[in-house]
Amino acid sequence: MSNQEIENNKENFFSQQDSIPNHVAVIMDGNGRWAKSRGLKRSLGHKAGMDQVKTIAKHANRRGVKALTVYAFSTENWKRPLDEVNYLMQLPVEFFDTFMPEIMEANIKVTMIGIPDKLPRKTKKVMENAIKSTQNNKGMVLNFAVNYGGRSEILAAAKDLAKDIAEGKKNPQKVTEEDFESYLMSSVLGEYQNVDYMIRTSGEERISNFMLWQNAYSEFYFSPLAWPDFNEKAFDEALAIYQKRQRRFGGV
Ligand code: IPE
Ligand code: IPE
Ligand code: MG
Repeated sequence: MSNQEIENNKENFFSQQDSIPNHVAVIMDGNGRWAKSRGLKRSLGHKAGMDQVKTIAKHANRRGVKALTVYAFSTENWKRPLDEVNYLMQLPVEFFDTFMPEIMEANIKVTMIGIPDKLPRKTKKVMENAIKSTQNNKGMVLNFAVNYGGRSEILAAAKDLAKDIAEGKKNPQKVTEEDFESYLMSSVLGEYQNVDYMIRTSGEERISNFMLWQNAYSEFYFSPLAWPDFNEKAFDEALAIYQKRQRRFGGV
């Protein structure tokens, strides 16, 4: 979209800026099918998907989203063929090599959730560097879920809490939900840890082990578009739908 189109869209769609979701989390699905339907290799779908992350990150930041979590690789995605796994693992390298200047210009802060240990050395390094060089940026937080699984996150938090209890640092009777959240990987998002809007592309309507704790009261949006087709206009449409939702959090 051109800048003018983006501005026009903004006027059409958004009258109340206050109902922009703070934390949007995206299950970026459908890269493989997008490629297949064009007679391309799956890897080219992932490449197009990576480019779309750049577009949507800049756009969400402009719209006033505070945190955008993107599901890049799940703990279950290791089951895929090795060449696909390898391709996905080198994508962050390409992503930050090409996108870092724009990240800095947009003042975007990069964070990560997931288990870094199993990642190839180069992937891990590039993520660490991006996190470090953007740590003082004050714009939107772009949070990558890499080798991430909701269950593994909750289990790791439970183990860390159990350790603190065993060492006498925590009283088990007094542990609150907020305390528990501080043990989750998503605590890197601070006050925006819980998801407001969960978007999944490609027509699948499932959660696939994504932010199980944090999605407790999020609104869900399922788009039939494959992730590489989910452009700024599609994102604006999703935001407009969010603005019509009435969140109740169990109240009336
Ligand atoms: C999502 O696209 C990207 C990742 C899971 C890394 P897919 O690769 O799952 O695409 P489909 O679902 O096979 O079309
Ligand atoms: C979820 O998509 C994981 C990511 C987008 C990284 P999948 O394509 O792996 O999920 P399933 O297998 O369809 O549930
Ligand atoms: Mg998929």
